[in-house]
Amino acid sequence: MSNERLQEILARHAGTEGPLLPILHDVQRAFGCVSADTQQAIAQALNLSRAEVHGVVSFYHDFTEEADPRPCVQLCRAEACQARGVEALVGAAEAAAGNRVRISPVYCLGLCSVGPAARIGDTLHARLDAASLVRLVEAA
Ligand code: FES
Repeated sequence: MSNERLQEILARHAGTEGPLLPILHDVQRAFGCVSADTQQAIAQALNLSRAEVHGVVSFYHDFTEEADPRPCVQLCRAEACQARGVEALVGAAEAAAGNRVRISPVYCLGLCSVGPAARIGDTLHARLDAASLVRLVEAA
């Protein structure tokens, strides 16, 4: 982790309202994780306890404490996507992913009426069925 890069991120959000989540997103994007040391530095910068920062990091699936270099397919498992059949697709997605791709649950991508939905990087995918989801996983 580059301390200089972390300081840039902290400086960018200095004085903004509710900076913790935007900082965590930027750190996750920049470093691939929010390590324990980084959580400590963020806590210090925001005058929070490390437990408060850790609580947020561990609550949201968007953040990880260790880097995982595998491509990630975020698959929505929230109610509307469940009602539209996402649970029936999970097995096929996990089989296609094996250990090469990480299938990560998320809870709403804002595509509730056109689920099941997934996100890979910044790209959203809707109306997934088993075949289209497997294709996405294989291409990730
Ligand atoms: S519930 Fe899946 S996108 Fe909203």
